[in-house]
Amino acid sequence: MIAEQTVHEIQEHLDIIEVIGGYISLKKAGRNFKALCPFHPEKSPSFMVYPQKQFFICYGCHAGGDLISFVMRFEHLEFPEAVRILAEKAGVPVPQAAADRPAVHPDLYRAHEVAARYYHELLVKSAEGERARAYLKGRGVDPAAWEVFSLGYAPDRWDGLLTLGQQEDLTPQILEKAGLAIPREGGSGWYDRFRSRVIFPIWDGRGRVIAFGGRVLEDAAGPKYMNSPETELYVKGRVLYGLHLAAPQIRERDFCIVVEGYMDLVSPYQHGIRNVVASMGTSLTIDQVKLIRRHTKNVVMVYDGDYAGEMATLRGLDLFLEAEMRVKVAGLPGGLDPDSMIKSQGVQAFIRAIQESQDLFDYKLGLLKKRFDPKQLEGRIQICQEMLPTIKRVPSPIQRGEYVKRLSELAGVDEALLWSELKRVKLDAPWRPAAMEEAHPRAAMTAEDLLAGLLLERPDRLVQLEGRLDPQDLQDLQVRRLVTWLMEGEMTNRFPRGSEEWESRIARWLAHADAIAVEEKERALDEVLQRIKENQRRAYMEGLKGSIRRAEEAGDEAKTTELVLEYNRFMKTGTAATRQLEG
Ligand code: UTP
Ligand code: MN
Repeated sequence: MIAEQTVHEIQEHLDIIEVIGGYISLKKAGRNFKALCPFHPEKSPSFMVYPQKQFFICYGCHAGGDLISFVMRFEHLEFPEAVRILAEKAGVPVPQAAADRPAVHPDLYRAHEVAARYYHELLVKSAEGERARAYLKGRGVDPAAWEVFSLGYAPDRWDGLLTLGQQEDLTPQILEKAGLAIPREGGSGWYDRFRSRVIFPIWDGRGRVIAFGGRVLEDAAGPKYMNSPETELYVKGRVLYGLHLAAPQIRERDFCIVVEGYMDLVSPYQHGIRNVVASMGTSLTIDQVKLIRRHTKNVVMVYDGDYAGEMATLRGLDLFLEAEMRVKVAGLPGGLDPDSMIKSQGVQAFIRAIQESQDLFDYKLGLLKKRFDPKQLEGRIQICQEMLPTIKRVPSPIQRGEYVKRLSELAGVDEALLWSELKRVKLDAPWRPAAMEEAHPRAAMTAEDLLAGLLLERPDRLVQLEGRLDPQDLQDLQVRRLVTWLMEGEMTNRFPRGSEEWESRIARWLAHADAIAVEEKERALDEVLQRIKENQRRAYMEGLKGSIRRAEEAGDEAKTTELVLEYNRFMKTGTAATRQLEG
């Protein structure tokens, strides 16, 4: 954790105008500054910086935040790194231990470094490495790629790395903690995890080795790939293979190719296709999606052309959509993966597959048509049911409309019917900026939105709420959190910097507050409180009515009477006897 103190000091020593002005050119606009937004393409400036609030907002893409958020976004950094940079600029010391989020044992990194070097040298130089060299050459991986990917060979020995560890001051316990050694059953001693395999080091976003994947040389018994277990350094779903190598290319070409396997990345790389990352297996996670999203919003998925690959592609599509990214799919012919396709049909065929990648709608529809019979009504209904959740996740309303229309034509189902079905579709994933917006349409600013804006603008307005508002009374979960943080004085600590969902909401809240004339603001806060109370009152009465109806239906007279009395009392006094409506 970064100390709150550090963040405060940065905010004290640095001005947002200076910091942002160091990255892009700002023009004065009244008391504020404007610029062309660095986060989305535009011709006229909708990016505003408010020196009084020390906050920036883009009214075009809804990016927004403080100076730390700006640096995170602009430099594609995580929070601690951005803080470190700004602290340096501000001349504020950052406690070393606090600078990295979890304080991991430095020997864990060193163990991976030592191991990577060891495996690599064995591959490149040793006699026993000849098998692996021959294997890689046989697969068309040339020595230049051995270097780029730091490929290695783990020898056919039980204690190769453990023995080296002794010289390098790496204990078996540390190697075990790093996932590189395994304790023997019975409890005496350890043995090397990776033996007789070609080694693919796996890096974090900064290019540090944090895990390994090891491939068997021939089709031997056991799994084809053995990977490091999860450790303090390595959490499977949070890493993408090759991301730190691909990031510059992904940004330059503004799209990312997502493949499954190690070799599906190495192979295209050798042919100059370098904006590729691998999910290492089939199931992509939302964390991996977010990693990509820091560099581009455009994705082409190229998974293996088998059933597992198709299923994984469908899941991946929905994840990317939820993250408001544009995603296409390059389906590969039966059984091929990018590596085997390049090998059997040449790199041009692969490039063509990428160029001809399908819109997610067509891709998913194509798969569904293979599975369900579109000639039968039954089949068409099933196709619709499978398509609707995906369509619901599409962020653009126009695009959504088009998909509904096409689905209606294809399935011979009335468009209006599809729309009403679409409304009823419930999405269950937790990370959904698009759906958040549906629940809180921009046009209909709620009282709670305005409250959030007014408080963000001037947290000292909190005193006016004292005794008048319990955050628990707020319906909107995000507003509730924000108010709680502010009340607890924990805003700087808790505000999830880097969360675009939060930042765009905050930008909008501030915009709401901005739209109100200064002399109106105090009154607005009172009104807002009244409206919130009124909403709450209405919700409570509706709840009571429902409970009365249910009690009546159940023939529970005592309960009915009690509830009716409470209803009457509440109408008169306006205070609830109990929050527990259901007994
Ligand atoms: P694949 O089975 O498609 O392997 O798994 P591949 O990459 O095409 O293998 P090659 O080309 O024969 O070498 C795709 C990815 O899933 C993970 C690996 O990351 C692999 O690259 N995987 C696969 C494992 O972790 N363990 C396994 O046993 C198999
Ligand atoms: Mn494969």
